[in-house]
Amino acid sequence: MAVLVTGGAGYIGSHAVAALQERGEKIVIIDNLQQGHRKALLGGKLYEGDLRDAAFMDTVFQENDDIDAVIHFAANSLVGESMKDPGKYYHNNVFGTLCLLEKMNEYNVRKIVFSSTAATYGEPENVPIDEYDRTLPTNAYGETKLAMEKMMKWFDVAHNIKFVSLRYFNAAGAHESGKIGEDHSPETHLIPIVLQAALGQRPHISVFGEDYDTPDGTCIRDYIHVSDLADAHVLAVDRLRTGADSSVYNLGNGTGFSVKEVIDIARAVTGKEIPAVMEARRAGDPAVLVASSDRARQELGWNPKRNKLEDIIKSAWSWHEANPNGYND
Ligand code: UFG
Repeated sequence: MAVLVTGGAGYIGSHAVAALQERGEKIVIIDNLQQGHRKALLGGKLYEGDLRDAAFMDTVFQENDDIDAVIHFAANSLVGESMKDPGKYYHNNVFGTLCLLEKMNEYNVRKIVFSSTAATYGEPENVPIDEYDRTLPTNAYGETKLAMEKMMKWFDVAHNIKFVSLRYFNAAGAHESGKIGEDHSPETHLIPIVLQAALGQRPHISVFGEDYDTPDGTCIRDYIHVSDLADAHVLAVDRLRTGADSSVYNLGNGTGFSVKEVIDIARAVTGKEIPAVMEARRAGDPAVLVASSDRARQELGWNPKRNKLEDIIKSAWSWHEANPNGYND
């Protein structure tokens, strides 16, 4: 048996590949290297190409007829960009997933673990958010991820392709080996940007909005270590291999931190000043996103181990200090 990981050279994908590798799984990777990095792969066989390229996908499935499960990361994932260029998100995320599901059906692969997001909920009705809460995305990125989930539901009904959709809250941190970490270009995520400011690569961190309905006026997010997310994917593959039905799980720590709190913790971890400048809100940002992950704990047996935000930021800081230019590729 082999696991196909799409987007396996990306930030979260590469940590999932590392977790599969540690378990001794056979791994096949598809990545078009738009965002991913060859050097981020600690194992597996890379096929460089795009999900939307049917001939390419035929080669991957024909050369690896032992693939029994897919973990699907390949997608664009920037809230801000999705508000300016929604077409890119519908094309790569929604159409890309359609192409993948059709090929899975053609090659009789009937298990998929999906990289979904808290952005499917939009402005939450309840905090913490659970999987039964309303999904009403406030940005195009979240809308495409919700559309992808719904597509999987209908491919399950029609073709018996079982899915586990994992709705992540805010991924952060780096692998304990120090070999892989976060390197986006451009970087838009809060923690790596704060650490770039700590390294002097940016003059300051811009805080997007100080007028939200939160105690200090800045947005609150639930930060979860990328290796804990990676572990959940391995557990989700295990669950599907037992013949379980399709399901959806939130993955977060259950504790929210404001943008200002994140900056303060990063100042303590790095010992650097990290200047902050207040700016206008960024389009599409909900005020508060905090997860209830009880269901993942109960049904997947997920037990995140790297819970303290200080430790998550420490692991990210180790990576950024050692690799100030990321993978440098
Ligand atoms: N932020 C700043 N300044 C920055 C960058 C971010 O103030 O320079 C703020 C944002 O406005 C937001 C918070 O920090 O309030 C976190 O922003 P991120 O961009 O780090 O992450 P998001 O909360 O936007 O995360 C969303 C979804 C995730 C998804 C991710 C992908 O909730 O599920 O986008 O980009 F994976």
